[in-house]
Amino acid sequence: MSTHFSPLKNDTFLRALLRQETDYTPVWLMRQAGRYLPEYRASRQGAGSFMSLAKNPDFATEVTMQPIDRFNLDAAILFSDILTVPDAMGLGLYFEEGEGPKFERPLKDEQAILDLKVPEEGSLQYVFDAVTQIRRTLDGRVPLIGFAGSPWTLACYMVEGQGSREFHGIKSMMYKRPDLLERILSLNAQAVATYLNAQIDAGAQAVMIFDSWGGALADGAYQRFSLKYMQDILNQLQREKDGQRIPCIVFTKGGGLWLEDMAAIGADALGLDWTVNLGQARARVGDKVALQGNLDPAVLFAEPDQIRQQVTATLQSYGKPSAGQGHVFNLGHGISQFTPPESVQVLVETVHEVSRQQRLQA
Ligand code: CP3
Repeated sequence: MSTHFSPLKNDTFLRALLRQETDYTPVWLMRQAGRYLPEYRASRQGAGSFMSLAKNPDFATEVTMQPIDRFNLDAAILFSDILTVPDAMGLGLYFEEGEGPKFERPLKDEQAILDLKVPEEGSLQYVFDAVTQIRRTLDGRVPLIGFAGSPWTLACYMVEGQGSREFHGIKSMMYKRPDLLERILSLNAQAVATYLNAQIDAGAQAVMIFDSWGGALADGAYQRFSLKYMQDILNQLQREKDGQRIPCIVFTKGGGLWLEDMAAIGADALGLDWTVNLGQARARVGDKVALQGNLDPAVLFAEPDQIRQQVTATLQSYGKPSAGQGHVFNLGHGISQFTPPESVQVLVETVHEVSRQQRLQA
């Protein structure tokens, strides 16, 4: 596919990630394409399953565009899943109706770990094709975000075989056989770096690493088993494409205690969950990184006036834009499937209106 794309008409999101001045605070939502949208549920039913949506670039494009067509969002995110990478390593990803993701062949023993290899070339081509097709369809309306899971978060699913509360399997391995875990993590880091670079080549204009389970780690273990491998990825990432900086966002859910460490690995921005105060976070990371977040997704179950109040409070907690640009508004984690779509409309309008007013008052 050719990679000549239309010029960007709205670069507010990219500017905020690079801590440049913006007329208002840009906003997008983690999992903005998903089951809370009736049009997503219809597409998913048409495709038959989550994986057939994700593996077909036409469907992936259709679903990525749904929230962009409905709301005035400032970024689009590739429709896919973090677990496509271990799937391409041969673990066999599947989704059972009403349940989370599972692997047919989790890493059950030492031999499986020794046999593990990075994905074969071409096995993730459907993702890169989707990126290029989405970027074309966007036609410069807003930037496109590519993404991947962190090596640690991927390893959690690869070892447990599914989501987990206690992470008994992987944490036992971490303390009993750290060498085996480190082998998985190195491989994952290599695979994710290649994967993100290919997304950038295909047209992704920013990338995000989702470390959803980093917050399950002890202090010390987080730095050694999660952060270090995200840094390895950042070291290998292409940070510029066609003369444009490609910003990278790192999001460790539950990582609020480690912001200084996270700000030191070379990311352009940190994602924050709702346990963190944005202004305090900004004071701690200084001018090293932009911040993305961090409204509690449950706010979207409240009434419009209450949503407006909470969104305004989050914007205010960051501090006046004059004191430093560099805020991307988002939720503190993915949007719930039970969210009324009208609540998202209220959120997006409020972020734009209130943040414009803040700049006039600054
Ligand atoms: O943000 C977006 O709109 C882009 C798409 C996206 C999906 N998953 C689509 C999806 C992204 C960025 C992800 C990331 C992802 N996937 C993470 C990291 C972010 C996080 O939430 O912590 C994780 C841990 C996964 C693994 C995963 N995939 C889980 C735990 C689930 C089940 C969750 C649920 O809500 O049921 C999925 C499935 C999934 N990935 C869905 C979507 C829209 C729902 C699938 C469906 O249609 O049934």
